[in-house]
Amino acid sequence: MMRSRLGFLGLMVVLVGGGCIVAERNVSPGINDSYENTELTEWVGRFEGESREVFINREKIVELAGVSSGMDVADVGAGTGFFAEMFAGKVGPEGKVYAVDILPGFLEHIEQRVAEAGHQNVETVLCTNRSTRLPPKSVDLVFMCDVYHHLEYPGSSLASIRRALRPDGRMIIIDFDRIPGVSRDWILGHVRADRLTVVKEALSMGFEVEKNLTQESGLEENYFLVFKKR
Ligand SMILES: C[S@@+](CC[C@H](N)C(=O)[O-])C[C@H]1O[C@@H](n2cnc3c(N)ncnc32)[C@H](O)[C@@H]1O
Repeated sequence: MMRSRLGFLGLMVVLVGGGCIVAERNVSPGINDSYENTELTEWVGRFEGESREVFINREKIVELAGVSSGMDVADVGAGTGFFAEMFAGKVGPEGKVYAVDILPGFLEHIEQRVAEAGHQNVETVLCTNRSTRLPPKSVDLVFMCDVYHHLEYPGSSLASIRRALRPDGRMIIIDFDRIPGVSRDWILGHVRADRLTVVKEALSMGFEVEKNLTQESGLEENYFLVFKKR
């Protein structure tokens, strides 16, 4: 048996008889515990509040995401589902939106809200903290807004995203900039990785930055990066 440490994600590659098992440590233990212990209505208030810049700028964000009729889009870490609902309107009946989350309560809420909005093109997917559980080559776009810093096993999750994307697929990561001395204390305490670290982690999992849309998006605390497969 031979062992070697790889990359930015603390991946331990264990070679066994020519096979390869990848074990990844949890980089943010407990980061998602609060979702289990708090009422859903409170999360609706927090995620869809006018003090949250990604909510205020949601129309611009969806426009820049380039979602159009017939596309298949995965909103990974969909939360209360306001982006998934907006994407459902954009992709239309020829397209599909996968609303993916680790919390069943969020998915039940999304099923209700899209039914009330009359959308029949949204499928909820209960994923795990290691895999989006999306089918291979099933989507044109994976969208993650304020989710990357909640990934406990980012290497494994990114690998599952890469598998789910079609060859020309794109992955959007919107997340908090973490800049010591500049960012709010809450961000410094809550967010694990700064922008450069996230880019390096994505690079190590087979992605490269295609576009930086931060300025166009109007976001000030968050960056907006579009990745494609390397
Ligand atoms: C801060 S919320 C963002 C929700 C939504 N994207 C938004 O911007 O309003 C983070 C979400 O990521 C989900 N999440 C955490 N870890 C995840 C994982 N490994 N895979 C998918 N979703 C995850 C949480 O359950 C939660 O809904």
